Amino acid sequence: MTSPHEYVRAHSAGFEEELNELLRIPSVSTLPAHRADMLRAARWLVDHLRHIGMEAELAEEGKTGAAREFSPGEGHPLVYAEWLGAPGRPTILGYGHYDVQPVDPLAEWISPPFEPTVRDGNLYARGAADDKGQILTLIKAVQAYLATKRPLPVNVKLLIEGEEETGGTTVERYVRANRARLGADAALVLDSGMFAPEIPAITLGLRGIVTAEIEVSGAARDLHSGRYGGAAPNPFLALAQILTGLRDARDRVLIPGFYERVVPPDPEERSAWSRLEFDEGEFLRDEVGSPALGGELEFPVLERIWARPTLEVHGMPGGFTGEGTKTVIPARAAAKVSMRLVPRQDPDEIYKLFEAHVKRLQPRGTRVAVRRSGYLTPAVVMDPRSPAMTAARAAFTETFGHETVLIRAGGSIPVVTHFTGLLGLPTVVTGWTLSDSNLHSPNEKLHLGHFHRGIDAVIRFFGRFGATADS
Ligand code: BES
Ligand code: MN
Ligand code: MN
Repeated sequence: MTSPHEYVRAHSAGFEEELNELLRIPSVSTLPAHRADMLRAARWLVDHLRHIGMEAELAEEGKTGAAREFSPGEGHPLVYAEWLGAPGRPTILGYGHYDVQPVDPLAEWISPPFEPTVRDGNLYARGAADDKGQILTLIKAVQAYLATKRPLPVNVKLLIEGEEETGGTTVERYVRANRARLGADAALVLDSGMFAPEIPAITLGLRGIVTAEIEVSGAARDLHSGRYGGAAPNPFLALAQILTGLRDARDRVLIPGFYERVVPPDPEERSAWSRLEFDEGEFLRDEVGSPALGGELEFPVLERIWARPTLEVHGMPGGFTGEGTKTVIPARAAAKVSMRLVPRQDPDEIYKLFEAHVKRLQPRGTRVAVRRSGYLTPAVVMDPRSPAMTAARAAFTETFGHETVLIRAGGSIPVVTHFTGLLGLPTVVTGWTLSDSNLHSPNEKLHLGHFHRGIDAVIRFFGRFGATADS
């Protein structure tokens, strides 16, 4: 009888072809033009999950039109599947997302984003790493057991959403309304990455996020800068003053109370981070590429990106940005801003502190509007001592031949707070992406060797976690 591992080795080419099928569907959740593709991707998953022997359904049909007004990134279907054929065994709730980020700038892609292409052992496509390739490692691990008639040592429930990249609320509503159905012994979230190409990792913490927009208006309309310059306020300079009032030259956030609730990592976690093989020079040269690093230099780099809150400006729409010159005093200027949060910072409170501070900074002669936009999720940290963590660490170490390291990530995965908070589940956040996977960027890629080893790692995790019922 073939083992699950032998099965995946024999079917690796087919698995890659299936991943390609899913990658060819341009499921960009934020763009209204792709709403039908979202449904297509969700249906592809449902069909595929049924095909491997799970019960699967579209748990929330994409709600469109009159029923409810959705913002562009919302109302995409959720996929739920289960296989509960191992009574008395523990249950794993697996998670991934089938939505992807927009592809722009398209011109920078070496091969088209929705035509998966292999180069140097990497599969290039939007979603290869974030998160379609990673979801498939979970699904293929389930298939490896079911197809070989080896009793799957755990029950499996899968929740695959289409609004992760837009911070949509469907998954939270679903989790709240289906607590019993989603009951499990642990969750496995495949949406993070490795620490380095040969070093598997479990992500024990994720930062939260709050996004906002600031709009400064001055004159009632755009004005001639010769006729009115000297008398009319300039909203761009006013906005610049506001922004420099948000963060100082040493990259400290200036919002009063911003750092008040911040809980630093405990000494044990800090010292574990200091032992990780991390080269600041390489990080600067290979990943960031600026003349020098920024941020709070008194903290080590990993702590700055994993455990310190930050404020960033993403873009400043408005005014004249075309070629050439236009002597205008624009009537309005705007900035899109976000803050990454760490444990104990409350997103609502932070937003209010931010809003109040921006209003206080309002320059003479202008009006300032502050709006929340999109995402709002708190940071989360997980306990490394649950049985699921122990099983995952051992399984990944065995698969990759290197000790599994415990890290955090600077990014956010909102569902994790619902799994840990609403469902009370010990949650293992992990994945197979690398720092050069180009998440959200042109030429996103997944190393195919890691795709296959990821499947092996999940198979081993199921085996080890299932065995905890025997002891
Ligand atoms: N998978 C990422 C989050 C991530 C990135 C985790 C790197 C670990 C390492 C996820 O798809 C993502 O991009 N999240 C968004 C937040 C969301 C609310 C839009 C993010 O972090 O910007
Ligand atoms: Mn993701
Ligand atoms: Mn993402």
